[in-house]
Amino acid sequence: MSSVPQPQHAAPRSPIRGPALPIGLAATAVGILLSIASAPVATSAQRASEMPEPVVVQEVPSVQVGATTAADPCSEPSVLEAISIADDAAIIAGFGGGESFRAAVVAGNAPCVSLADPAHVWVVVNKARPLEPIAFAPASLADLPLQMTTRSGQARADVASAVGELAAAAATEGAGRIGANNGYRSYDLQVSTHASHVRNHGQAEADAASARAGHSEHQTGLAVDLVACDASCGAIESFGATGQASWVAENAWEYGFIVRYEQVGAGITGYMPEPWHLRYLGRELAAAYHQGGFHTLEEFFGLPAAPDYAY
Ligand code: DAL
Ligand code: ZN
Repeated sequence: MSSVPQPQHAAPRSPIRGPALPIGLAATAVGILLSIASAPVATSAQRASEMPEPVVVQEVPSVQVGATTAADPCSEPSVLEAISIADDAAIIAGFGGGESFRAAVVAGNAPCVSLADPAHVWVVVNKARPLEPIAFAPASLADLPLQMTTRSGQARADVASAVGELAAAAATEGAGRIGANNGYRSYDLQVSTHASHVRNHGQAEADAASARAGHSEHQTGLAVDLVACDASCGAIESFGATGQASWVAENAWEYGFIVRYEQVGAGITGYMPEPWHLRYLGRELAAAYHQGGFHTLEEFFGLPAAPDYAY
């Protein structure tokens, strides 16, 4: 656990949707909203024509923004104890649960939480937020308990266990068998993965589908790409049309995962939809994400849109 305070952005609202704002933050949110709306979406005409337009979703949120349970949650004894043993679930519980944790981060009231620390389930990595350090590797990895279609069959142990539970529940509920394509990818593997996309499709299309090395959630050990398996397993590109994908979109949050790259969030993430790419947040944060009606991690934590690289 890093104890280095990291300023966070107070922007709990987005053009897509999120929970209702406390009235006092409304003016700030409008400013952020305008800045997100005017952010560049693509680096080239080609990519602009390929990226789906974000769709404004208007449903009423099912939960309200929760106040943190303590004025200074980072000073709470339960939080300090959880930080000392790097227990992410206990840290979140010490804040009063997933929504209270999120609200504290967004409000800038969580200096003991760094969204840049890749050792934690709340890390945010995107085109504007490279991993720190850039060649980060998780402390340990475990085999994914799923049929694999590549050799990249590992993830963090908590992630491997959770995705195993998810796949077992999908099978039990009649949604079909779920396998995986890629879990953890090292910095070096991400270099070659992205280079292959550039060779085959050009830079703009590659950047809309594959993260540059140091910018991929796969490098954190927190991401898993799913495939649907019947007699044999399919490709990630065909996952979205399967019953397994429908089940995952509806139920993944109960196992601690979000579908990280949705069509509705493409203008914020800079990626084409990836219904197969699950990102582990842990059950508390995934529940807050789902119940708050969020569609990108950037909005969840009040961070700026990141559709492009700065280089
Ligand atoms: N395909 C996702 C964006 C990655 O490469 O991490
Ligand atoms: Zn992925």
